[in-house]
Amino acid sequence: MSNNIKTYLAYFCLLVISITGFIPHPSVRLGGQAGESITHTEITQQAFIRSLARYFLDTHAIRTQEINHSHEYTIDELYHLAYPHWTTKQVRQRSYPLKSILDTILVENGLVDFDAWTKKLPAAHFDSEAFSNGSRRILELRRQIINDTRTKAKILTEARKCLGQLLHTLQDFYSHSNWIELGKTDINDRLGIHENIGPVAASNQSTCTSSGCTKIRVRCSLYQKITLNKCPLEYYECKNNIQPEIIAQGLLTSGYSSNQHNENNDSITKPINVEKCSHGSVMDITSHQPAVGGINKDTTIPLYSPHFDLHYEAANLAVIATEQFLNDLRRDLGNDDFDRLFAIHPTVEELHAASKAIAHMRKWQFFSSSISSGLSLTARLMKNFRQSVKERLKKIKWNLFGNSKDILKEDFVFRRRRKRDLILRRRQQLH
Ligand SMILES: *[C@@H]1O[C@H](CO)[C@@H](O)[C@H](O)[C@H]1NC(C)=O
Ligand SMILES: *[C@@H]1O[C@H](CO)[C@@H](O)[C@H](O)[C@H]1NC(C)=O
Ligand SMILES: *[C@@H]1O[C@H](CO)[C@@H](O)[C@H](O)[C@H]1NC(C)=O
Ligand SMILES: *[C@@H]1O[C@H](CO)[C@@H](O)[C@H](O)[C@H]1NC(C)=O
Ligand SMILES: *[C@@H]1O[C@H](CO)[C@@H](O)[C@H](O)[C@H]1NC(C)=O
Repeated sequence: MSNNIKTYLAYFCLLVISITGFIPHPSVRLGGQAGESITHTEITQQAFIRSLARYFLDTHAIRTQEINHSHEYTIDELYHLAYPHWTTKQVRQRSYPLKSILDTILVENGLVDFDAWTKKLPAAHFDSEAFSNGSRRILELRRQIINDTRTKAKILTEARKCLGQLLHTLQDFYSHSNWIELGKTDINDRLGIHENIGPVAASNQSTCTSSGCTKIRVRCSLYQKITLNKCPLEYYECKNNIQPEIIAQGLLTSGYSSNQHNENNDSITKPINVEKCSHGSVMDITSHQPAVGGINKDTTIPLYSPHFDLHYEAANLAVIATEQFLNDLRRDLGNDDFDRLFAIHPTVEELHAASKAIAHMRKWQFFSSSISSGLSLTARLMKNFRQSVKERLKKIKWNLFGNSKDILKEDFVFRRRRKRDLILRRRQQLH
């Protein structure tokens, strides 16, 4: 056996072991898993930081002039600003319950892509032009969050889980629909408030064209051959493949994908007599059926996202929309209930649990303390994204390889790619 193959198998075993159970880290998660793509985790955390800053401003814990608009704040830094007399240890303990609630929300958000029922439910991702179903889903979850939170004695775990699920759908609107392609530079302000979120293409109306998409055929690696069971890899890169009438009329559309089902478990398939858009990606069989290609902006990687070049625009609006949603939720709940929902100022019991968790060095699943966000409402976000993603990658490298300085970058990229491929394989097995 050559050394190469041995190394290969060693990696393989390592990955199989490390990936049993839930996906270990957001950077390898589906729906934003790879390279410098923004995941649901960054979107949610950045939005939450901005919303928390607004809470502190509105409750006069922080004054506007104390905010440095060139700085990107972590959650700890916001607490330090609000409570300058607290020690680092106090901040750590008092922000712990909030972080652990955020962790629950982030995991629940991620699970929407893995849960056997929701991963193929168009309403949970605004796929297959399920716009009213999607916004109905958001409104129902929102109603439950508000009802639970207003019920004083209620344990809020369920409400927090609902919030995680809701945010997944809200965020997917920007990467799965044609909102960005319609030239919108602001969020859809009906989303999360009204069931009707704008005019949608008719069911008999063509929404995509095959022209504009280039078929890519690449050899796969040995590993991909084993894991993807699909060789060579075939996918499409697309530009301007939305029908001009759809753009001209400002109609909403979104991509169909394989094996989807509606709320009654009836299958939802891409129509054959009219050219609709696909979600697209190397795994989406419908992307080979006219109109070929697809429109998703989930990642910066063409293999997964035909509209990879619009990824950052979509992620940027998803952050702003998430922040707006949280701000609106606070307006409807009131500051006290919003505080309770997130344990911004924890109770004695919550603090006690925090001390225990800290003593046991319990780890977060998805939450990352290093994620920060600027607080101004401008395009600066784009810069923050790229920065925080780079920071995150540095951190993962550190976690994987510890203090060793001589690990080659290639080695790291190699391992990362293998991990991603493995997830794809799992995804295919699940289909
Ligand atoms: C504001 O933040 C920037 C970036 O972190 C920093 O370089 C600068 O010194 C800060 N300004 C003040 C007045 O603290
Ligand atoms: C609201 O919460 C109360 C108390 O938990 C419950 O009895 C009621 O069914 C809930 N209503 C809705 C619409 O969820
Ligand atoms: C779509 O159906 C409507 C009636 O439901 C009809 O008026 C319209 O002409 C049809 N459009 C196309 C493009 O077939
Ligand atoms: C939307 O919901 C309705 C039932 O309310 C269902 O008939 C329809 O298939 C759903 N559409 C999609 C695309 O899931
Ligand atoms: C939905 O239908 C599929 C078959 O089409 C079946 O395997 C699955 O168990 C059903 N799920 C539920 C929750 O009924």
